[in-house]
Amino acid sequence: MLVGLVSMSAASASDVEVLHWWTAGGEAAALNVLKEDLQGQGINWNDMPVAGGGGESAMTVLRARVTSGNAPTAVQMLGFDILDWAGQGALADLNAVAAKEGWDEVVPQALQAFAKHDGKWVSAPVNVHSTNWVWANKSVLDANGIDVPATWEEFEAALAKLSEAGVTPIAHGGQPWQDATVFDAIAMSTGGPEFYKAAFVDLDEEALGSDTMVEAFRRMEVIRANVDDNFSGRDWNLATAMVANGEAAFQLMGDWAKGEFLNAGLVPGSDFLCFRFPGTQDQVTFNADQFALFDQGGDVSAEQAALASAILSPSFQSAFNVVKGSAPARTDVSDEAFDVCGKQAIADLANAASTGNLYGSMAHGHAAPASVKNAMYDVITAHFNGVFDAETAAAELVDAVSIAK
Ligand code: BGC
Repeated sequence: MLVGLVSMSAASASDVEVLHWWTAGGEAAALNVLKEDLQGQGINWNDMPVAGGGGESAMTVLRARVTSGNAPTAVQMLGFDILDWAGQGALADLNAVAAKEGWDEVVPQALQAFAKHDGKWVSAPVNVHSTNWVWANKSVLDANGIDVPATWEEFEAALAKLSEAGVTPIAHGGQPWQDATVFDAIAMSTGGPEFYKAAFVDLDEEALGSDTMVEAFRRMEVIRANVDDNFSGRDWNLATAMVANGEAAFQLMGDWAKGEFLNAGLVPGSDFLCFRFPGTQDQVTFNADQFALFDQGGDVSAEQAALASAILSPSFQSAFNVVKGSAPARTDVSDEAFDVCGKQAIADLANAASTGNLYGSMAHGHAAPASVKNAMYDVITAHFNGVFDAETAAAELVDAVSIAK
């Protein structure tokens, strides 16, 4: 009873309770920008962090909270999960704030497709990340005479050279979402954008079971052969640290990795390098973090409106994304404050959007609903750990997707 009273008085009307998975150093630094913004407006931030990159654990906690009738005010969410909760009528209607601030005009269509449901804005887009990046330790590359590889073949040659020199070529964390993040880039590079869309967005059986998919799995075996012995279960930010401190040459990871390098005091271009995964220079496989606002039983609350408005403000979009490693979720934010990787992220995104090369990330919930995504994770991870060979993996992918969809 006492506990109940204490927790009730701790959550006052001007609180927002925010469930998120931004627990790594660079992520927490970015989140602070938002916390401070709201605290400056007299809104108290109740933090509800659930560790686990990609957000699977956070989504499990969310389901438990909603089931017990105690949804948080705001929840970090990706792609199809937003549409799923909106379809269940769980999210607040943000149309008033969106109309007042003109979100329709400045948020890219690719994001609106996940932020709106049945003509209603239901979430506030924070950023645009993308998964087809490689992060490299510059001194390690220089010491081994390696240039930024432009093709898969050049990348393979670089891996072989590093391996021979006794350097761990790739820092990887063996967790299903990280294996899948790598697969986003490998599949795009192996088969190109039409193949990527057919397999991951359209869930076309022919593409899922094709020779191209078999080749993509073969390339995953090359990645597997170039990670260290302790990769299994490693968190993504620890893999980033291996590149940062020169224990490994490359990490294949979304641009939240840049937040970690920056948080460690490293400088892009001189300490570390960012480049698109070889063979995907024109493409962007994106995921956008959004804050979905749960319906608290009536109109959107003043705190929820303030949170949404703070997130979409151009100054916040610049300040937050500079730290987080992502591009802004608005098309009208200057790239001036961004470093060389951030400027590239913004330019790549605009080019990809205007040339039909922008695709939702399979690994981060922007290509297909969670049931399909999880089915793909299982196959990709089983193959990565040697349970299936490449041919079997492609066949298993066809089956798993047909059961899940
Ligand atoms: C999110 C990023 C986050 C990363 C690792 C991704 O799904 O979009 O914001 O930094 O997971 O936690």
